[in-house]
Amino acid sequence: MSEITIRKAELKDLAAVRELQAAGELVFSYGPIDPEEITDEKSIAGVAESHGEIVGIIVGEKLAGPWSVAHYLVIRRDFRGGAVARELGQWFLGTSKAMGVQHVLAYADVGNPRLINLYKYFGFAAGGTYVELTKEI
Ligand SMILES: CC(C)(COP(=O)(O)OP(=O)(O)OC[C@H]1O[C@@H](n2cnc3c(N)ncnc32)[C@H](O)[C@@H]1OP(=O)(O)O)[C@@H](O)C(=O)NCCC(=O)NCCS
Repeated sequence: MSEITIRKAELKDLAAVRELQAAGELVFSYGPIDPEEITDEKSIAGVAESHGEIVGIIVGEKLAGPWSVAHYLVIRRDFRGGAVARELGQWFLGTSKAMGVQHVLAYADVGNPRLINLYKYFGFAAGGTYVELTKEI
């Protein structure tokens, strides 16, 4: 696999980030991210780059207290199964910590074992502070 660079997302990445976000078969989405989700000082948005192409994204934000939340993590299909997801996750945790974050919140749907295993690799545990409640309507 080719060399990967992880860096903070910039405004010039918006189209590529939205493209990956749309290609991510996401169960939950707020729709295409706004430019502010990259530029805002509380935003935590990173990209994985390979030969000038964006091959992975992670987009989240710092909340008001010592919390951050990861909203979107998508790896381009041909880069899945490698180190990209772990590197982006590591970047998100490191950036969060540097912003004073002590707790990181992430959501994974039960039908996504890759995502759940990835979070477990980082030491995330299900449950704890919040109970998720959903209702069919
Ligand atoms: C979820 C996603 C980011 C994970 O990235 P990835 O490169 O595919 O992840 P990996 O291949 O490193 O797999 C992560 C873990 O799941 C395991 N895994 C891989 N395929 C699996 C499968 N079919 N079933 C169970 N576990 C699996 C891996 O072994 C790894 O666990 P490990 O750390 O114990 O080895 C990526 O698949 C993706 O972009 N999916 C579409 C978008 C998405 O669902 N995003 C999440 C919601 S925002």
